[in-house]
Amino acid sequence: MTTRFTNKVALVTGAASGIGYAITKQLINEGATVVGADLNEEGLRQLESQLKDKFIGVKADVTKEEDHEQLVSKTVGQFGKLDFAYNVAGASKAGVITDLSKEDWNFTVDLVLNGVFLGMKHQARQMKKQESGGAIVNVSSLNAHVPMYSGAAYTSAKAGVEMLTKNGALELARHNIRVNAILPGLVDTPLTEGFNSNAEIKEAFMERIPMNRAADPKEIAAPALFLASEEASYVNGASLLVDGAWAVSGYPDLSRWF
Ligand SMILES: NC(=O)c1ccc[n+]([C@@H]2O[C@H](COP(=O)([O-])OP(=O)(O)OC[C@H]3O[C@@H](n4cnc5c(N)ncnc54)[C@H](O)[C@@H]3O)[C@@H](O)[C@H]2O)c1
Repeated sequence: MTTRFTNKVALVTGAASGIGYAITKQLINEGATVVGADLNEEGLRQLESQLKDKFIGVKADVTKEEDHEQLVSKTVGQFGKLDFAYNVAGASKAGVITDLSKEDWNFTVDLVLNGVFLGMKHQARQMKKQESGGAIVNVSSLNAHVPMYSGAAYTSAKAGVEMLTKNGALELARHNIRVNAILPGLVDTPLTEGFNSNAEIKEAFMERIPMNRAADPKEIAAPALFLASEEASYVNGASLLVDGAWAVSGYPDLSRWF
């Protein structure tokens, strides 16, 4: 256990599961206090009982602006300030473009892209007011760069998150607020259970992932913590791929023939 984040206060959306859960636990292991937001209230209550006074859970819907305002004001009310924000919450409704309803497209874009915009808006407002800098880390995806069959809404929204991050870095650097994106590949979480539990789909993924496995959520949390840390004090507007070399394997695996 290190104490890199002693006296730091962080807000994490999507804290009740998967990557957000791993980030929350690791931040607390390293000394921070965390406000976790999620739709899943039961998951938040479980975290509260595990993490005691270092964590409070707030039921919030990241697609609602008033929920972000409330999250920031609760964080400041309870712990006095906001140093870091992790915009992690996400999910999608899949469908090929020719069949995808406008409702499903809007659901995904609203959650994945608009939710991050609204979060950044209120998190950065608070950080600006404090005049002591801060760090925002947005969870995008390898799918910001690589399309996914049946995933147009998700991939487009994740590409939007990457550009939104860069725009945030441009606007907020003058306030010493750094904004970076992390782009995970395949991570073993409830979100990808469907892929991982189907042997054929799993095999298709593994053919393309040179490390031949999905990441453990902790392997995303560690670089996500780095991005908020002092060690990353000059990393700003960056997109950090954490994908087991998946992005470099666009070609079929020629090792079968050569
Ligand atoms: N798992 C992967 O392979 C993978 C890869 C790349 C990117 N990502 C991204 O990482 C992030 C976390 O994914 P995960 O795999 O940990 O998924 P997960 O399903 O384990 O966790 C997502 C959490 O977000 C919460 N959430 C969903 N909608 C919400 C809303 N409207 N308001 C508040 N909370 C909401 C859920 O309740 C859940 O607790 C997502 O943005 C996802 O797109 C995941």
